[in-house]
Amino acid sequence: MDSTKLRFFAPCPRGLEAVFEAELHSLGVPTTTKTEGGIGFTAPWSSMYWINLKSHIASRVLWEVGQSPYRSEDDVYRAAYALAWPDWFTPSQTIKIKVSARRCPLPSLDFLTLRIKDAVCDKFVASRHRRPSVNTERPNIKLDAFLDQSTVTFYLDTSGEPLFKRGHRVMSVEAPLRENLAAGILRLAGWSPKEVLLDPMCGGGTIPLEAALMARQIPPGISRNFAFERLLVHDEKRWGHLREAARAKQVAAVPAAIYASDHDPAMVKIAQRTFQGAGVGIDIRLKQSDILDLEAPADGGVMVLNPPYGVRLSQPDELQSFYPRLGDWLKQRFAGWRAYVLTGDARVPKQIGLAPSKRIPLFNGALECRLYEFLIVQGGARRRLTPPTKI
Ligand SMILES: C[S@@+](CC[C@H](N)C(=O)[O-])C[C@H]1O[C@@H](n2cnc3c(N)ncnc32)[C@H](O)[C@@H]1O
Repeated sequence: MDSTKLRFFAPCPRGLEAVFEAELHSLGVPTTTKTEGGIGFTAPWSSMYWINLKSHIASRVLWEVGQSPYRSEDDVYRAAYALAWPDWFTPSQTIKIKVSARRCPLPSLDFLTLRIKDAVCDKFVASRHRRPSVNTERPNIKLDAFLDQSTVTFYLDTSGEPLFKRGHRVMSVEAPLRENLAAGILRLAGWSPKEVLLDPMCGGGTIPLEAALMARQIPPGISRNFAFERLLVHDEKRWGHLREAARAKQVAAVPAAIYASDHDPAMVKIAQRTFQGAGVGIDIRLKQSDILDLEAPADGGVMVLNPPYGVRLSQPDELQSFYPRLGDWLKQRFAGWRAYVLTGDARVPKQIGLAPSKRIPLFNGALECRLYEFLIVQGGARRRLTPPTKI
């Protein structure tokens, strides 16, 4: 299996395609296509293991098992039937089929889902005299089909649960960032583990946790299972070797301090338990504090801020009075720092009163946001947009 080059597609959060491509290159995987929301590549089977285990940005890794032109539902049925499903899983495993499409001329995706399910089951009946059953909640095997105007592509999902589910969350918190978006923000910020990092509104701690995993070179997928472990072509020995090789690369401590705080004691408690569960409790200096009471912990560093925004939390009015004070706090205490603010509110830079040096469009789930970069210099940012407000 490992001598053959296979085709894969890995979706990622929209806006992170470029940093995801760079990550794939750093993992030794040359990429072939970059589309909105994902990257295609051709690679040996073991690269798929490596990406599932080590990518901070991928949402999942889909193995392309077939592609065919189509004009009708019957063509899609025949294309699905032609594939060697019994080589990849058994009829005692449950399946789920997900169909998505762009510019597909056929009227019903539900009907297509049914036809593909029939094709897969008929194939098993013909060769194994048994059909797999469908389980839409917790399937053993997930099949994806994607239809464009004239081509249907079939995938087996090698990840299972989406890859942003690292297995570290101890409790759900309000408005958490997805782990792969948090990691992508750190990459877009150009943060290197040698730089001091501060997240002063850390909530459940997603951003500092991703940073600590990166700095300690702890693979984000080391604590979870993957769907490829249930495929007949899975190579347990190879997988074991790769996991061990990744473990051996872990470093004992973070090279530069990572600071995290939140004004809500409940959040601090949750973040603490999460960091400890992930094995990075000693790497993150966590405390309870209102953001505006904090002093800069170093002469320079990177601050990442994911403030509550009106659409999801708090009252927009409250936030409007907060941002001018945040701008003054940055200017007065954080000269020499780069600050990155993720928000869905386009008025924020004006309210902060600092001119952003970058505005990067991102999606937090379905919510369109911007990541604003502010370079804080002595006496203010490069340019003030509104007069400063006194604290
Ligand atoms: C959108 S949430 C951050 C979510 C976080 N990135 C995560 O993934 O869990 C915003 C956080 O800001 C905190 N917060 C709001 N106002 C604050 C303030 N004045 N000082 C410190 N933290 C504050 C809230 O308690 C909340 O946890």
